[in-house]
Amino acid sequence: MKHLLKLGDLSPEELLHVLDVADELKRLHRAGQDPKLLEGKAVALIFNKNSTRTRTSFEVGIYQMGGLGTFLNAATELQIARGEPIQDTARVLGRYYDALVYRTYRQSEVEALARYSGVPVISGMTDYGHPLQVLTDLMTVREKLGGLEGVRAGFIGDGYNMANSLIVGCLKAGMSITVACPRGYRPAADVLRFAAGYGGRFRLTSDPDEAAKDAQVLFTDVWISMGMEREAERRRRDFAGFTLDAARMALAAPGCLVQHPLPARRGEEITDDVLEAHAADIFDEAENRLHVEKAVLAILLAGY
Ligand code: CP
Repeated sequence: MKHLLKLGDLSPEELLHVLDVADELKRLHRAGQDPKLLEGKAVALIFNKNSTRTRTSFEVGIYQMGGLGTFLNAATELQIARGEPIQDTARVLGRYYDALVYRTYRQSEVEALARYSGVPVISGMTDYGHPLQVLTDLMTVREKLGGLEGVRAGFIGDGYNMANSLIVGCLKAGMSITVACPRGYRPAADVLRFAAGYGGRFRLTSDPDEAAKDAQVLFTDVWISMGMEREAERRRRDFAGFTLDAARMALAAPGCLVQHPLPARRGEEITDDVLEAHAADIFDEAENRLHVEKAVLAILLAGY
């Protein structure tokens, strides 16, 4: 693994290796023994979109590993915001930093950063995918359910970055997944082509109850992602009926796990009572972002 740009680039073995390293680093952290794997190393955290979890968990994780993390606001502070091309930014930052994390809109920008910087690049989320979040979700599901092979997952919501990465991640991990999106909000075409190779382990529907039925883990995400604010009214109309609520949870397998990448919009994609009933698992998921990010850095920069 040279970069983490999208889950489609990882073999199933590489994906499971990230989870194994994350489990080990979590165990060591709990024991007060964070290995200083990033001593003398610097990581740039380049954000073109808001973040609470990704930014802070990277900053804390890099600190725990003995390295330096620098937050760079690409929306207001870097010269990118004034038109400096990504390939020039990449060639400069690649000479200072040992790795770059980039959260932005277009997947092609993250790919360009990787092509020109000469150092490992990690996607911090794009419109196409959220690989760190889905690795975290898989880590959490494995932790809670004891394994991934054969687990039945459902996703209810927008066929956007989370759905794209979940489809790829779940299928590579040996799970099955049913994705329910309103018509007109389907996942990316290349992801659907990939999923078609997995036969009955993948199903796409516009009926959210179908995704919930017999699921052992249910995922959802916001209907109005960053940059979509102008579409808010239309989206709320189009997603009406796609809320993860108690009635829908009753269709799932007993003890069904609920995962949400956060931030959540209570009353839209998930009701307050469902979120609060599953808060322990959802905030364990948020904690696991830290361990997964440390694992990715350990693999990319310390040869784990
Ligand atoms: N889930 C997630 O990526 O959270 P942030 O947007 O707060 O980083």
